[in-house]
Amino acid sequence: MVTALFSLRERGGLRAQGGSVTLRNFKDSETIVVTKVTFVHPDGTRETHAGIEGETVMDCALDLGGVGIRAQCGGACICVTCHCYVESPWSERIDPPRSDELEMLEYAWEREPNSRLACQVVLDPACAGIVIRLPLRQA
Ligand code: FES
Repeated sequence: MVTALFSLRERGGLRAQGGSVTLRNFKDSETIVVTKVTFVHPDGTRETHAGIEGETVMDCALDLGGVGIRAQCGGACICVTCHCYVESPWSERIDPPRSDELEMLEYAWEREPNSRLACQVVLDPACAGIVIRLPLRQA
């Protein structure tokens, strides 16, 4: 999907800015902003997909069959099975974790300063082109 979207962008069919593409549905006057999200697996392989602004990184991962994020609680911030690392510079750009996320991250396996719960990272303009590294295992 990303390949097709970015191919369209290059042909001028879409408005693109940074790692995001804006799609406009003229029939419903609805605008959807699609953001490029790259998941980096523990072995270094990368998967780049399209995430929709307003959804979480977890939603994007689950739409793709999980890509290593199990998300057992479905985004309720109570399981830590969506632990991931938000790479720089996005880790500095996005909203910091709330207290409940920080509490749950105490249980994350191999927590790092850029550790986040994918269910708490909402894709917004600051996430354009975001790179998410996946841990070797979840909690
Ligand atoms: S899905 Fe359970 S904490 Fe994120």
